[in-house]
Amino acid sequence: MEAILFAVTIFFATLTLLFAYIAYTERRKRERVLITLRLNRTKEEVNRRIDSTKLLARALSLLREGIVIMDPYGRVIYTNKFARELLDISPEDTEKFFYQAIKNFDVVSMINESFNEKYRIWQEKKIKDRYVQIIFGSDMDEKVLLLIDLTPMKKYENLKKDFIANVSHELKTPVATMKLLLETLEEECKDKPQAEKFLRKAIERVNYMEQLIEDLITLSMLESVNFPVKITTVKLKPFIEKIVHDLSEFAEKRKITVKVEIPDNISIKIDEKMFHAIMKNLIDNAIKYNKEGGSVEIAFKEYTNEIEISVCDTGQGIPCSHIPFIFERFYRVERSRSRKLGGTGLGLSIVKLATERLKGKVELESEEGKGTCFRIYLPKC
Ligand SMILES: Nc1ncnc2c1ncn2[C@@H]1O[C@H](COP(=O)(O)OP(=O)(O)OP(=O)(O)O)[C@@H](O)[C@H]1O
Ligand SMILES: [Mg+2]
Repeated sequence: MEAILFAVTIFFATLTLLFAYIAYTERRKRERVLITLRLNRTKEEVNRRIDSTKLLARALSLLREGIVIMDPYGRVIYTNKFARELLDISPEDTEKFFYQAIKNFDVVSMINESFNEKYRIWQEKKIKDRYVQIIFGSDMDEKVLLLIDLTPMKKYENLKKDFIANVSHELKTPVATMKLLLETLEEECKDKPQAEKFLRKAIERVNYMEQLIEDLITLSMLESVNFPVKITTVKLKPFIEKIVHDLSEFAEKRKITVKVEIPDNISIKIDEKMFHAIMKNLIDNAIKYNKEGGSVEIAFKEYTNEIEISVCDTGQGIPCSHIPFIFERFYRVERSRSRKLGGTGLGLSIVKLATERLKGKVELESEEGKGTCFRIYLPKC
């Protein structure tokens, strides 16, 4: 009996062990299947990621913008084709520091000086044969240098400038002939008041056109690299007095007094043509936008590295909201008033451009109803 009981126990124990073993192997099999499935999915995911990274890199290489991505320490981790070509970065330069990888000294200095800043944007710069706008941005993880290619825009701008310059030159002679003819006709029509009135109006319009052409030619000359800055020594007071004298008829008509508060012995080194364009426009404006019976004061100050020439008037002033746009081409505060006074709206853009070509700056201060002061700062040569 005991033997039978023992055999049954052994049988059941073996059976239990067998079931346990089967369950264990089944579980292992299921786990293996699950792991294989998971592995396959991960592989697919990795492949997908590799594909999208490749696609992104290919897309970035087609861009006409240059991209350099650096780690927080300045090691180059990604460059696209345009950046590599422009900055002479070879494919082996990845992982090197930016100052080892980038061969353009100016760009290296730019990154260096803005390395700890969040964002920096520079004026356009010529690298090799291209004009680029350089932007540097940085966050906790990466630093990015962006090079935006402005060459096509520049080409288009140059075409536009050339076109304006050519048209202005072409118009100059016919407009001068028309003016001469109208003036002769006016003489002939002295005894016909109605005809004379119309002719006067026509001459006024032709004068406006002549001024517009003159201003457009000056602007294109100032913009052209072929128009170099020619520095000569100029005696300041007589130079300014001559401009004031040329505008004296206009000032007398408007009963404006012009004072030149400049010491006799001051000489400055300057491009005469450009300086003349600046001062003539500022003094002309100070007379034109003054109140009848008002005054204009032209003064001079000298600092260690620069000189200041100011033109202050007692006119109507410029409202604050207009000041940011005042140097833009054709911008006028009161369009109709300026036109009536013969203004083209190009005077202050000539002032700004000429001052910049002389490496100076122009500032203005104005109070409505009280007057305006324009200040020109020029470096001492
Ligand atoms: N001294 C000033 N006082 C008040 N407003 C001024 C003064 N100077 C310029 N402005 C305003 O700025 C505008 C632009 O001046 P800008 O000299 O460019 O053009 P303009 O005088 O109208 O024409 P242009 O000088 O070409 O003959 C003027 O129309 C005028 O409204
Ligand atoms: Mg003007």
